[in-house]
Amino acid sequence: MDLDDEHKFARDGELPAKAKTLWHGRFTGGPSESLMAYTVSLSYDQRMWRDDIAGSKAHVRGLARVGLLTEDERNDILSALDQVAVEMESATFEFVASDEDIHTAIERRVTEIAGPAGGKLHTARSRNDQVATDLRLWCKRELKDVAIRLVEMQEALLEQALGAGDTYLPGYTHLQRAQPVLLSHHLMAHGWALGRDVSRLIDTLHRLDVSPLGAGALAGSSLPIDPVGTAADLGFAKAFDNSLDAVSDRDFVAEAVFDLALIGIHLSRIGEEWVLWTSGEFGFVKLDDGYATGSSMLPQKKNPDIAELARGKSGRLIGNLTGLLATLKGLPMAYNRDLQEDKEPLFDSVEQVTLAVAALTGMIATATFNVDVMQAAADEETMAATDLAEFLVRGGMPFREAHAVVGAHVQACIAGEGSLADLVRADPLLGEDGAALVAPGVGVKMRTSRGAAGPAAREEQVGSYRTMLENEMIEIRSLTGVTGVN
Ligand code: ARG
Repeated sequence: MDLDDEHKFARDGELPAKAKTLWHGRFTGGPSESLMAYTVSLSYDQRMWRDDIAGSKAHVRGLARVGLLTEDERNDILSALDQVAVEMESATFEFVASDEDIHTAIERRVTEIAGPAGGKLHTARSRNDQVATDLRLWCKRELKDVAIRLVEMQEALLEQALGAGDTYLPGYTHLQRAQPVLLSHHLMAHGWALGRDVSRLIDTLHRLDVSPLGAGALAGSSLPIDPVGTAADLGFAKAFDNSLDAVSDRDFVAEAVFDLALIGIHLSRIGEEWVLWTSGEFGFVKLDDGYATGSSMLPQKKNPDIAELARGKSGRLIGNLTGLLATLKGLPMAYNRDLQEDKEPLFDSVEQVTLAVAALTGMIATATFNVDVMQAAADEETMAATDLAEFLVRGGMPFREAHAVVGAHVQACIAGEGSLADLVRADPLLGEDGAALVAPGVGVKMRTSRGAAGPAAREEQVGSYRTMLENEMIEIRSLTGVTGVN
């Protein structure tokens, strides 16, 4: 590489008029190419354009309210911002070399359109409070969207649960067959985990509902700005109380990225299970063709790639969280450019979770369960062992003793001394009533306690699951201030 070329930009000094930096007054030389290449964030932060325009409009209305802009200036800047929105929406906005981020690009264009009035847009504002405002607005819209998609996935799980009727399968501990459980119970188990995810996102949204606009670069302003008014205008629940905290706080990003990582972990657990369930060894589930892939070489293959990627991509969601926490940990007050590193992990986590939820929801909604295979696996005689012990407990035997009695029958059965049913029948303590518990399909009906895996308890669970879904939607609908451009 020719070093002279690399430094030419800097030595040439002034950028073309259109490409002036926001700080050109203090500088005689222009930015080097390598500085620009390293520091620009436009490629990813342009997705906040709606929020930047919404924030700028509220700021402009605020400046006008306190007399820092005339009515005409206010209107000129607002209509320039509207024009920028049209250009952004139609992808006709022309970026230039000096647009290091979306804030710079929009302010430059507003000044081109509105003339001198545009130069007043940034009065009493810094990109530090601007970017924090934009990112909170972005989160309000996008995290709400993730929450809605999670509710849809919970609904798909419920649909399949209702369709499964009294189908049962082995429940596992240590991935060893343990006790039969209803398929509906198993599917809803994942839905409850997603319910906590929705509730966590809503909590995060409430906590991040604070406007940093008006904090300036770090210390507020000598001008009579109105942060409380702009917060209300933007639909935030309140304005910041401390300007240093306002511009340097990224707790909300860390929380969001954590929420998304945990969602990713829940999706990964579903993924792992479905990889197993679709295998020849388990054979519990058949995927719809639209949600499976084939092999380029092996003609017989039908692969669960969605489930595998849900498992695989959880790694990067965890990485996004740990990377962000490491970025934040050493930062002195207040804004530091390090904070620009908050966006890529957040955007990536939101995007990946959104894609995963959509694909998994479709995969689950369209799958067919191999009822016979599932039930046959759960009909293995030894799965009734706990029911036999509990039968003895009902007759007054201490559980520890009952456990040993049944354990001995299981051992004899494994040693080939007879079927468990026959061994139980021959035991006067258990007899015919005991043997009946070993019969296929009986065990799952025995799970009657609250929240248990059998049909009686399920009715109550379906009711509370539905209530959870309704409450989630009520809470999501009541989230305020999710702005488009207005
Ligand atoms: N692109 C920057 C970011 O994302 C905007 C704020 C820049 N502020 C500054 N003082 N250089 O953090």
